[in-house]
Amino acid sequence: MNLKVIITVLSVLSVSIVKAQKTDVKKAFASAAQQTDVLVKNVDSARKVKPNLVSPRTVENGQFKMVISRDWTSGFFPAELWYFYQYTNDKKWLTLAQKYTEDIKKEQFNKGTHDLGFMIYCPFGNGYSLTNDPAYKAVIIQAAKSLSTRFNVKAGVLKSWDHSSDKWKYPVIIDNMMNLELLFETTKLTGDSSFYKIAVTHANTTMKNHFRPDFSSYHVIDYDTLTGNVRQKTTAQGYANESAWARGQAWALYGYTMCYRETKNKAYLAQADGVAGFILNNKITPADGIPYWDYNDPKIPEASRDASAASITASALYELAKYSTNGKKYKTAADKILNSLSTKYTSKIGANYGFILEHSTGHRPNNSEIDVPINYADYYYLEALLRSKN
Ligand code: GLY
Repeated sequence: MNLKVIITVLSVLSVSIVKAQKTDVKKAFASAAQQTDVLVKNVDSARKVKPNLVSPRTVENGQFKMVISRDWTSGFFPAELWYFYQYTNDKKWLTLAQKYTEDIKKEQFNKGTHDLGFMIYCPFGNGYSLTNDPAYKAVIIQAAKSLSTRFNVKAGVLKSWDHSSDKWKYPVIIDNMMNLELLFETTKLTGDSSFYKIAVTHANTTMKNHFRPDFSSYHVIDYDTLTGNVRQKTTAQGYANESAWARGQAWALYGYTMCYRETKNKAYLAQADGVAGFILNNKITPADGIPYWDYNDPKIPEASRDASAASITASALYELAKYSTNGKKYKTAADKILNSLSTKYTSKIGANYGFILEHSTGHRPNNSEIDVPINYADYYYLEALLRSKN
């Protein structure tokens, strides 16, 4: 074989390798929809017994777990139904999405948590962009007002948790970056820039205090609101204070990518590129691209994986690929993750009460939700499938 032939053969081979990573989105959505039909039936049966349990969260020890609207994950199930409507345009999904979104509505007034981005913006934001329903717009605005009450000017951040005051004075977790989208959107909806300013200040303070030189993120930063100084850098859900909790890295990646979309501030793009570098260049993650629950768990390779971190990462990388000079690399990485999730991490149809993905890790230090299906893994998986088409 001469050199030209060898090069041609190699390039054909490499194209087929790249092609092999591609997910059949239509097929993946069809299986996910079949599963979600099962999930809806299980939700309805559970709600007949306990009507205040509104949303499915996980399966633990074989038990189907539903949550009340105050749970931080309550919005993901209705938000998934909006994604099915977006993909299929089938009124069946519209009716279901509207019905289950309604159950989360009262959380717009909840001032006791930072999680309103997840709880309210995922279902109502998707619902509003698909229907223009003014009632959804009003809920989004009220939720942003509630969230803004948690902003402290001296520290320059939104407080995450009110619980565990014996451990932290003013805890801010990296996950909190995800709530900023609600604030950016509310400035667009109202013309009131105060929400935008809070979001940008929170993102800047977090960029300054939450990251190590290798762009890995701490989980919890505790602030002193009298001085604005950092009191301690710790973890709640990671292996150790100095470890890199996998889902935290995914929230950071998604958060700064979204902040760049909303502001076009190049510092956020550089931050997202840095976090992507940490995630993708890390030699700890197995070849299928699904990370262990924490990059520093000494039990690796026996440690559990976190499919939720993978689906959040894939969705974020598809977006970041549009903005970054590393776009091709990010798209290839996202394709690989999505292909793994859709071929090796999905439940058998009818299994797991209808959850789509398996093998997430919720809270390892609490010994809860280890190697389980979980609603936010499913939500960001559907989002990644949608984004992979564009
Ligand atoms: N936001 C909580 C978690 O990621 O588990």
